Amino acid sequence: MLLLAIESSCDETSAAVVRDGRQVLSNIIASQVDVHARYGGVVPELASRKHVEAISVVIDQALETAAIGLEAVEGIVVTRGPGLIGALLVGLSVAKAIAFARKLPLVGVHHIEGHILAPLLEEEVSFPYLALAVSGGHTHLYRVDGIGRYVLLGRTIDDAAGEAFDKVAKMLGLPYPGGILIDRLASGGNPEAIPFPRPLLHQKNLDFSFSGMKTAVLNYVKKQEGPIQGDHLHHLAASFQAAVVDVLCQKTLRAAEEQGLGRIVVAGGVACNSGLRTRLHALGGEKGLDIHFPSPVLCADNAAMLAVAGDCYLRAGISEPLDLNALASWPL
Ligand code: KG4
Ligand code: ZN
Repeated sequence: MLLLAIESSCDETSAAVVRDGRQVLSNIIASQVDVHARYGGVVPELASRKHVEAISVVIDQALETAAIGLEAVEGIVVTRGPGLIGALLVGLSVAKAIAFARKLPLVGVHHIEGHILAPLLEEEVSFPYLALAVSGGHTHLYRVDGIGRYVLLGRTIDDAAGEAFDKVAKMLGLPYPGGILIDRLASGGNPEAIPFPRPLLHQKNLDFSFSGMKTAVLNYVKKQEGPIQGDHLHHLAASFQAAVVDVLCQKTLRAAEEQGLGRIVVAGGVACNSGLRTRLHALGGEKGLDIHFPSPVLCADNAAMLAVAGDCYLRAGISEPLDLNALASWPL
């Protein structure tokens, strides 16, 4: 089955053509990062307007790259939520319009469901597995028993890890989104230079907290005389990243052990982080665990990731009516 997938939950407009929920024929991503960078974060109103401008072009490119016409598409899958409501509605409205015009079945997928199934586009990962969804809006641990069968084991009680990366980057005068810049700076620094806290690390639950870590960095920055630069900047980035990575890895490994799961999937934008990849592979390797990170393009927001669940639902005869609404918040 050939599916057209559409994602517009935040600041990336994306469309993909995927065969049988596994083979990616195209995955076009138009980023709005430049538009939002000057404001230091995503401006929802601007995001919606930029999606309106980009969406038809992105869909045309996805079809062209896949070398198919719209008449070959057999179903439409779209992000229903969670995300910025105006942004979601752009993708959803276009998805509905195509479904209506071409008389195609339509299915709405949860954004995080897309992220945690993304590795299946690249390799066989058998169920059950533990999934860490770690992005700008989420830091959630799930037990994944199959497509549509998720058990939430723990989540952040305040900021998401990506949000903390971006806010710390902003404190250091780096442009939005700063996660990747912290990652680059960290590679030249000493992760033990500054002992930042590891909130909730020693509590038995599987929840996370990144707000206190961010405040600790802010307090540290305020205490310095003059701007932080040179080696000092590298050490700070490395120390902060080490604290985030430490908490993410320890809680993930604890969850896998408690659940008796030997496979771990890490997905979402922060799964691009080189420190997290290296450390979890090392720690998981010691325990004989099977660790999967999607390649960076499938970690960040993209439409192809939606097709794994979308294909499964449409084959099972699950589709949505055309009055389907978007959901800004939607638990998975
Ligand atoms: O999944 P995603 O593209 O969008 C959301 O659904 O939020 O994730 C974006 C987040 C941003 O906070 C960004 O700074 C972070 O992922 N990110 C990183 C890295 N690359 C992206 N954080 C740390 N290290 C990276 N290399
Ligand atoms: Zn995302």
